[in-house]
Amino acid sequence: MKKIVIAIDGHAGCGKSTTARLVASKINYLFVDSGAMYRAITLYVLQNEISTDNSNEIIKYLENITLSFEINPETRKNEIILNGKNVEGEIRGLRVSNNVSKISAIKEVRSFLVKQQQELGKQKGIIMDGRDIGTVVFPNAEIKIFMTASIEARAARRIEELKNKGESFSEEDIIKNLEERDHLDSTRKESPLKKAEDAIVIDTSQLTIDQQVDKVIALVETKTESL
Ligand code: CDP
Repeated sequence: MKKIVIAIDGHAGCGKSTTARLVASKINYLFVDSGAMYRAITLYVLQNEISTDNSNEIIKYLENITLSFEINPETRKNEIILNGKNVEGEIRGLRVSNNVSKISAIKEVRSFLVKQQQELGKQKGIIMDGRDIGTVVFPNAEIKIFMTASIEARAARRIEELKNKGESFSEEDIIKNLEERDHLDSTRKESPLKKAEDAIVIDTSQLTIDQQVDKVIALVETKTESL
């Protein structure tokens, strides 16, 4: 089967990464969670007590940041490594979530990461999820998907995810974070979240993860048969 590039964009918390990860393992593709890269930079900024409002300072620190992914042998998940340390657990908390959209709006942060993402895409057989994958990172991706879901469905899933990690939260905080990020991500000047013209929309409000995965796999099969 010919290998292709699959781009998944969409709103916060609608299951892009979970779907992409499962699809990748079923069809033996590389999965890259581009959001994890923005989250890791945000974690670095917070850990080093750099003001999240000081973009000049943040830009200066980029040269000190090295990101990579490694497969966790137990879970088989591709996890993010920040300067040699696995930070997959740390980047999912609310503190990072509440600051990431500000950091990801900085032009230089975006070009720093987009370059690395495009490098990873040189080998076909990749599925990447984010906000600008089909529009900026891989405008020629063979399959582009735009995922969305109701705010209620997204909040319920995120609450479940955080509960499993033992984080304390309120439903109100989660909804506020999802709505704020959607707003910031969609209205920012640099590469705002928007549906690529040729993207297929999948609304996951009423879908199980398995159904989401099946839908994407069906698209991949149709596409690769026609190549
Ligand atoms: O998993 P969730 O949908 O909550 O978000 P994520 O994919 O982990 O992305 C976290 C944040 O990173 C987003 O809210 C965006 O601000 C930023 N991001 C971006 O700007 N561009 C991307 N390609 C991926 C993420």
